[in-house]
Amino acid sequence: MKPYELLLENNEKWAAGKVQSDPDFFKRLTNIQTPEFLWIGCSDSRVPANEITGTEPGEIFVHRNIANLVIHTDVNLLSVLEYAVVHLRVEHIIVCGHYGCGGVKAAMGNADYNQVLNMWLRNIKDVYRHNREELDTISDENERTDRLVELNVKEQTQRLAKTSIIQKAWKHRKGPDLHGWVYSLKDGIIHPVFEMKAGADIDPIYRFDNI
Ligand code: CO
Repeated sequence: MKPYELLLENNEKWAAGKVQSDPDFFKRLTNIQTPEFLWIGCSDSRVPANEITGTEPGEIFVHRNIANLVIHTDVNLLSVLEYAVVHLRVEHIIVCGHYGCGGVKAAMGNADYNQVLNMWLRNIKDVYRHNREELDTISDENERTDRLVELNVKEQTQRLAKTSIIQKAWKHRKGPDLHGWVYSLKDGIIHPVFEMKAGADIDPIYRFDNI
């Protein structure tokens, strides 16, 4: 059996198991999805949103990229954000990084990863530069990486609040709340590190008045 064939076989078993324990499971999800959460996570294969939060299909709308970045020119992310906020009306957005993130580690080094990855990782280097005073005092490299993971999650969460998508939603429906979390690969525990409730203060330069 080829490795990918095993995935299809597992899928059949999974689907059968679902129907066995809940005969209406797929019927319920066929025509509508009403997730309460948008998850912006790292693409890392060890951090699957549903599995680590004990949630089922239909409960979390998911976007993942390397190092869970929120980039204002990323049409992919912005489309997901707009759909989740405006149409699905999610109540919570979670930016979830993870300790030991390879993207964050790579951004802390000086290797050339060629243009596209360099461009992507540069966003994390900016987070480092903005927090250099604190980060440079941490001598242990792994500890420094993990602190940058936390600061990166905070920065990306704040970036969500800078979009007109979030500001409009905050003004008109007092939601969603924004959460910055970090998952630990070592023990599987998620640590909340930052939070912005709907309507939280943002730097005035990013505020839109007429929305
Ligand atoms: Co990662």
